[in-house]
Amino acid sequence: MRARLARLRELQESPVMDHALSASRVAMQPDGSRLIKFFFGEELPFVSHGSGVFVYDADGRRYLDGCSGAVTANLGHADPEILQVMAEQAERITFAHRGTFHSEQSEKLAERLGAMTGYPYVFLCNSGSEAVETALRLTLQYWRERGEPDRARFLSHAVSYHGATLGGLSLSGHPQRRWVAEALLHGFNELIPPYAYRFAEGRDDAAFTAFLTKRAAEALDSHGSGAAGVVVEPVGGAAGGAITPPDGYLPALAELCRERGLPLIADEVMTGLGRTGTMLASQHWDVRPDLVVLGKGMGAGYTPVSAVLVSEHVVDAIAAGTASVTNGHTYGGNPLGSAVALAVLEAVESRNLVANAAERGKQLRAGLEELAARHEVIGEVRGLGLLQGLELVSDPVTRSPGDPVGSLTRSAVLAARERGLLVYPATGGINDAILVAPPLTVTAEETDLLLALLDDALSAMSQCTRARA
Ligand SMILES: Cc1ncc(COP(=O)(O)O)c(C=O)c1O
Repeated sequence: MRARLARLRELQESPVMDHALSASRVAMQPDGSRLIKFFFGEELPFVSHGSGVFVYDADGRRYLDGCSGAVTANLGHADPEILQVMAEQAERITFAHRGTFHSEQSEKLAERLGAMTGYPYVFLCNSGSEAVETALRLTLQYWRERGEPDRARFLSHAVSYHGATLGGLSLSGHPQRRWVAEALLHGFNELIPPYAYRFAEGRDDAAFTAFLTKRAAEALDSHGSGAAGVVVEPVGGAAGGAITPPDGYLPALAELCRERGLPLIADEVMTGLGRTGTMLASQHWDVRPDLVVLGKGMGAGYTPVSAVLVSEHVVDAIAAGTASVTNGHTYGGNPLGSAVALAVLEAVESRNLVANAAERGKQLRAGLEELAARHEVIGEVRGLGLLQGLELVSDPVTRSPGDPVGSLTRSAVLAARERGLLVYPATGGINDAILVAPPLTVTAEETDLLLALLDDALSAMSQCTRARA
């Protein structure tokens, strides 16, 4: 365990390049493009249009969007109801600064979010990273207003992703995304990840929970009156791949926070608003975090919008002090974004998409388990609802990832894409994994098609591995 955490630290402090990164070290785009892309020189199809769970490229190829883009397009593509709201709102007004005007659309959005999640207050932003940053700032402000400005240390997990801004990266345990900014980052990511496949080391769920909780308590106490709060992805997403904690862990972490009076912040940018089969993923364990961060599925790919849900006591402390939150983002709470997000939330409710995510999630999970029984490259299937992850291994006995780490992830993504299926890479720097997370609108037939395409892609991967051996 210590060796593994030490290795993680080492990766986080060195300019790590995963396979995908090093493989793409060719000069610039062969087509002469001036756009700086993720991987210089990587050839990708040009997107043309979308419809429901399908996306089409400029050559007319169809892809089943098995990962909702980046676990974002929760309603699928080109939804007519959302497009209509978008057009109508765009004709009225698209932008008015929230420092000048209140907007009916943002008020309604806050009301609706409150009704759906049970939180009394909402702060609106544009991206998951901004909302994570806002949650950190609100927590810092909470402590300042209460006369404890030295409380500035957050704790998060060693395998996690919380955004590309400096606060988000400081929380993140994701070596490939941290390395470039390491000099400016805090090492908040010191908690042992609730990632049984690699960190339980033979403990059963109860023993692993007890171990994680003990170590989290020690970490919190080591920061004493400097501790500000704990940030957690209820189900880990982009780093590691649908890392699902043992049942007792989130409640135990919440209790540790409660005992110490520390805010618990759930980063539900990926998991929130129905993705895991409940409105918030924290609800699977009856945990009510003090702050909840939402993004991705809130705009569902139709608009960049995100939010922080805030409990009464946090806002009360601010109200009793300066009664102002001066930081924000220019586009935050703009009428167009708010109207579109409101329409997305209404669709999630009126079409019973949370229930559909639970139902289709069961079908998807059963299908993935069945694939795991036939494909040795699948080390573990995990996740909740329509956020499922496959841990990929080169050897099921030793649980070794690809060599180099990241290579199996990349092969799986490419093999799937070649067959018209999109899946999301989720290597955490120490493992190989993909996310399978179709839109919450996915039907039973489309889920079957997704599984068949994935089966085909995994067979092609193992043929390649056998050919190389
Ligand atoms: C859990 C989590 N938090 C924060 C973020 C950052 O969101 P964004 O990319 O919208 O800034 C992500 C993005 O993948 C995420 O998965």
